[in-house]
Amino acid sequence: MKYQETREKVLEIAVKCLEKGLIHGTAGNVSMRVPGEDVAIITPTRIPYDQLKPEQLPAVSLHAEWLEGEFKPSSETPMHTAVYRARPNLNGVVHTHSMYATVFSILEKEIPPMMPPSTPYAPVPVAPFHLPGSEELAQSAVEALGEDKMVCTLQNHGLLAACPTLERAFSAAEYIEECAQLAYLTLMAGKMNPIPDKDVQTLRDRMLKGIAV
Ligand code: 13P
Repeated sequence: MKYQETREKVLEIAVKCLEKGLIHGTAGNVSMRVPGEDVAIITPTRIPYDQLKPEQLPAVSLHAEWLEGEFKPSSETPMHTAVYRARPNLNGVVHTHSMYATVFSILEKEIPPMMPPSTPYAPVPVAPFHLPGSEELAQSAVEALGEDKMVCTLQNHGLLAACPTLERAFSAAEYIEECAQLAYLTLMAGKMNPIPDKDVQTLRDRMLKGIAV
């Protein structure tokens, strides 16, 4: 099977997103750049991930053209491929509609860094609303990620995590959902108290070097 390892990894992470409750049904999508090629493997549109075999996953060009694979690519392919074109060091993308991150997107509020594992990814900016699947949404997400962000929310829609590896994109999506939940609950309890600015960079550097915090 062509692109076997990448297909298996995309399916594994998509199923993990389902199991962890980050994606419900088929509301969300996962992709990975094929190492060394201008090709990505992405989850198909509206097919439950737990019913898929790796060889059925579509391969797409980095301009969102469907190259091969039994099922039609995700409707959000333009957003995934726009990120790969704009940020050559990002190789895995996870898009979820996870609850608390989406709440912050609707409020048009950044998600602040609430606990150490979220610091490489927070504060998380909001990409202004555009219709799902549109080129405008793809551009909005690319602009929110800018030159160095790995996570943004999509206003009234969900979360987008893009990292050097697909495993990292998965854990970024998981940590930022947890972080958004903490931010929301502490705000409701009376005081949202993020990690002080002076410590955020130190924690971020430690996390990025793989030092446990
Ligand atoms: P797909 O099933 O086409 O991937 O779409 C789901 C989705 O997340 C739309 O934003």
